[in-house]
Amino acid sequence: MENEKIKEHVKKRYGEIAKTECSSCSSGCCSSSSCGPPPQYVAWKLGYSPDDIEGVPEDSVLGLGCGNPVALASLKEGETVLDLGSGGGIDVFLAANKVGPQGKVIGVDMTQEMVTRAKATASKHGYTNVEFRLGEIEALPVEDETVDVIISNCVINLAPDKLKVFQEAYRVLKPNGRLMVSDLVTEGELPEAVRKSFDAWAGCIAGALEKGEYLDKIKQAGFENIKVVSGKPYTIDVSQELKGKITSIQVEAYKSSQAHTPKVQSEIFVGFKENKKPEIFKTDTRPTKITHPQYDFAHGPFKSIEDAEVYINSMKGLACGNG
Ligand SMILES: C[S@@+](CC[C@H](N)C(=O)[O-])C[C@H]1O[C@@H](n2cnc3c(N)ncnc32)[C@H](O)[C@@H]1O
Repeated sequence: MENEKIKEHVKKRYGEIAKTECSSCSSGCCSSSSCGPPPQYVAWKLGYSPDDIEGVPEDSVLGLGCGNPVALASLKEGETVLDLGSGGGIDVFLAANKVGPQGKVIGVDMTQEMVTRAKATASKHGYTNVEFRLGEIEALPVEDETVDVIISNCVINLAPDKLKVFQEAYRVLKPNGRLMVSDLVTEGELPEAVRKSFDAWAGCIAGALEKGEYLDKIKQAGFENIKVVSGKPYTIDVSQELKGKITSIQVEAYKSSQAHTPKVQSEIFVGFKENKKPEIFKTDTRPTKITHPQYDFAHGPFKSIEDAEVYINSMKGLACGNG
């Protein structure tokens, strides 16, 4: 299954859900039915307290998650929180209530209709500490090391490249930042037909990794102190053949206080090509003489354009044989 096709299918499904006016029926992360029990009921079954549900705008509760990551994230006033795959915004609004006016919560989602819906809800209810951004969690539209806590609820299983998602999460977290996600994983292998089904993928099943593999991706991305805080069999709308094979887990992980995401800074070089004037160029990666694609060789880095020009002029002097 191609990654782009999977994403288009996922967007289509969640775009349709986002456009529903119905707040008395849910579609459920794994549900194939278009109208299940009320989303508030599903949310309560997933671990949200009645106070949680009453404390957020009704339009944000779509009953799409598989846990309650905010409950476990121990959010503090003033923190910056990022929600991966924010959907209708339930966890963003819940987190916003906890971090208060000095804090900020950013929701990222790749489905335009979800972002439009969540933005409308935020403005209708006067939330000033939330922001919804359109984007993919594999390439987060968020600056390096600017986030205290990352939450996510039943989304990473939908992403074809999970390692990239965790690497991006690591990049945007401040040193000592924490990750608290609810997600679906499998116990053992799923039947081949399920793995290949786009509908099963969009329903959070086919893309789910085996638990050990999932935790290993988090580790590979650089996280430490990875812990499964809780887990239970996921049963909402799970077919008979998959019963007992899908688990909803809540995982926490930390970015070390010493960790530093290496900043990619542009550097200035002078490039040479046969019979052509040397050129000044900038690049985020340091070229070597042999590998730079545009030049036969490059020299640098220089601290400034002026320094590079001085170097070029000095080369001219040499080329003229100095008189
Ligand atoms: C199962 S819903 C969960 C929504 C929300 N977290 C909640 O608990 O209600 C999955 C959401 O993730 C979004 N999503 C799926 N894959 C994504 C990706 N690769 N990048 C960004 N958003 C994605 C979908 O558009 C959808 O809104």
